[in-house]
Amino acid sequence: MRMDLAGRVVLVTGAASGIGLACAQAFLAEGAQVGMVDRNAPPELDGDVVAVRADVADERSVADAVAAVAQRFGRLDVVVGCAGISGPVGRPLAETSAAEVAAVLAVNVTGQILLVKHAQPWLAEDAAVVLLGSDSAFTAAPGMVPYCASKGAVVALTRALAVELPGVRVNCVCPSVVDTPMARGDLGDVLDDPDFPVQAPGDVARQVLFLASPASRPVNGQAVLADFGLSARSAFPA
Ligand SMILES: NC(=O)c1ccc[n+]([C@@H]2O[C@H](COP(=O)([O-])OP(=O)(O)OC[C@H]3O[C@@H](n4cnc5c(N)ncnc54)[C@H](O)[C@@H]3O)[C@@H](O)[C@H]2O)c1
Repeated sequence: MRMDLAGRVVLVTGAASGIGLACAQAFLAEGAQVGMVDRNAPPELDGDVVAVRADVADERSVADAVAAVAQRFGRLDVVVGCAGISGPVGRPLAETSAAEVAAVLAVNVTGQILLVKHAQPWLAEDAAVVLLGSDSAFTAAPGMVPYCASKGAVVALTRALAVELPGVRVNCVCPSVVDTPMARGDLGDVLDDPDFPVQAPGDVARQVLFLASPASRPVNGQAVLADFGLSARSAFPA
């Protein structure tokens, strides 16, 4: 299938690690021009690429970073919001502070809204926005209340943004566990259990590229839940 992403201008947040880095690499491999935005310095990649340091939870910082990428390439065709944090995963709710909840929402929710707000003036006709949700918007394990709440909000704001921005497609991907530094830090060796289905960052990047590509032209306001079908199973004992 042709992705038709060559020459497209793509801004990726969270591009220094994990899924965001895999997305930046995959867009570059398609011949896109890529702006890598992260609070940390990303690795150097070959291709037409610019890296900008920013904190997506800080409005001035994210506005400046978006403007820097857009001015460098002249417009934005695709915006991918990958920057995210997991927060106090594994901690019981009784030991979770308001400040910890606010920190997760600031990056995972407000950061995505600010990204799109400041990208909007630069978005080309037929632009696409792809946000990183999570299967945690739909299913939960104990000790994940702030993260799950933040990812549920990403699904809702995806729909709201699709309505808010006429002519711009806005979708989110909602993967199950992906082998990245975030997941390694939270889950450790469980990722190596052969009975536990784990995605690679490149698996998610391909989902993002499809939603960013004209190949998904009619898909808008959707959350693509990619979890090996785990959430589809009924409790019926069969
Ligand atoms: N790894 C998983 O299992 C998984 C599953 C579903 C969804 N996700 C989501 O995918 C996205 C990427 O996660 P990942 O697993 O690649 O994690 P990661 O920790 O490997 O990468 C996240 C990147 O975001 C950056 N970042 C964090 N806060 C930032 C901020 N305030 N401003 C700018 N950059 C910031 C980090 O520096 C890092 O480079 C996140 O939104 C995460 O919630 C991850």
